[in-house]
Amino acid sequence: MPKSRILYHSLSKHADFDSSDLEILRESLINNASQGITGFLVRSDTEFYQALHGDTEALVNLLGRLNADERHSELEILLFEDTAAPSPFENWAMSYDQFGLSSLGISSNQPGTRTPISKEDSERIWAYIASVASEDAAFGSAFPYARLPGETDLAYAKGLHLA
Ligand SMILES: Cc1cc2nc3c(=O)[nH]c(=O)nc-3n(C[C@H](O)[C@H](O)[C@H](O)COP(=O)(O)O)c2cc1C
Repeated sequence: MPKSRILYHSLSKHADFDSSDLEILRESLINNASQGITGFLVRSDTEFYQALHGDTEALVNLLGRLNADERHSELEILLFEDTAAPSPFENWAMSYDQFGLSSLGISSNQPGTRTPISKEDSERIWAYIASVASEDAAFGSAFPYARLPGETDLAYAKGLHLA
């Protein structure tokens, strides 16, 4: 089956971490594991950035659900392309962390506007998220819900009392 990778960003309903983020994480861990989707959800101030990898058909279905989800709005796809590369998230159905926009190399959004993201920015954001997921050296988060490189879905979900 053809595989794709997706990077999108959207505006969260909440300005900062909210417990509904953990509900999103719980749903993602369960659904994605059953559909062979892997990925990483980043909360960046009021925005979400999410990187996804998996069967194209499963990803298209997920995008349909994401577009209808009222916990965020103005979903903009930054990358959506076929890929033969293995997932940089290996077998992680979903991860979650909080980074400032500056860590993603993006200047802050001015009130009422959204910083435009170029293709080059998108590739850099994808690579940054992939490095945090896979390299101990890149991991530096003090966020209590961050996932440790090498941690299994089950250990992560149990640690957050999601399973
Ligand atoms: C920012 C964000 C990221 C999400 N990521 C996923 C995901 O990776 N996988 C998933 O199944 N649902 C994800 N969801 C939840 C879906 O939008 C949807 O609520 C969920 O899949 C259940 O859909 P259903 O009620 O139609 O079964 C996410 C929601 C938000 C707001």
